[in-house]
Amino acid sequence: MSDWISFYDFKHSVIYVNARHRDVHYRVIAEDIRTYVASPEAHVLDYGCGEATSAPLLAEAAGALLLVEAAPNVRASLAARYASHPKIAVISADEANDLPDQSFDLIVMHSVAQYLSAAELDRLLGLFRRIVKPDGLVIVGDVVPPHWAAPAAALALLRFGAANGFFWAAVGGLIRIFVSDYLRLKKTVGLSHYTEAAMTERLKAAKFRPERAKRNIGHNQQRMTFLCRPA
Ligand SMILES: C[S@@+](CC[C@H](N)C(=O)[O-])C[C@H]1O[C@@H](n2cnc3c(N)ncnc32)[C@H](O)[C@@H]1O
Repeated sequence: MSDWISFYDFKHSVIYVNARHRDVHYRVIAEDIRTYVASPEAHVLDYGCGEATSAPLLAEAAGALLLVEAAPNVRASLAARYASHPKIAVISADEANDLPDQSFDLIVMHSVAQYLSAAELDRLLGLFRRIVKPDGLVIVGDVVPPHWAAPAAALALLRFGAANGFFWAAVGGLIRIFVSDYLRLKKTVGLSHYTEAAMTERLKAAKFRPERAKRNIGHNQQRMTFLCRPA
């Protein structure tokens, strides 16, 4: 298991400054992802879904929602939370490798690409290309550009906190992130950054027709979302 997966494998990740931040974060991304669900019958897959506390909001707009999470404790808590939800299922990253060809209308991988090596990203793009329907859509969201990523993320978090009633918790949360394993892992394992051109090339190499969305999904508009149709 990669170190970043272990970093995220807490019941409540330190990346969220408090429960309000976590819940507003997941509500905003579920609302944004919902706008890409093309029909109420759509089969949707959310890869690296994290705590996904607003998954029902996304499921409401779709026929079925499959949550894929590599971190075992986060996955167990998702499975328990959504055990009785009629449209939501939860599987591991390994199980995702066995999903049938051309079975999803929409595949989303949001805020995960930065934790993957280039080879891991290419492998996952290959998986998504195989399991998306020919008229489906793959969304790679929250792609981190190479310059000013950390100050931009801190500023975006403070603004998000100010707009949603957790500004001081965001200040405290930033300090907590700085003393957590985040910086050590950033130095030792690294984070992957992409320019728009570099990500576009990778997506084209994986046999997609990528297009950068006007807005990134979520609150940080310095980051990028790519909409990818099978080529
Ligand atoms: C910042 S969270 C994103 C959660 C959610 N998609 C969101 O946008 O809030 C990063 C996620 O990436 C997953 N992750 C990190 N490294 C991974 C890897 N090598 N393979 C699969 N998932 C990975 C973690 O388990 C975690 O759920």
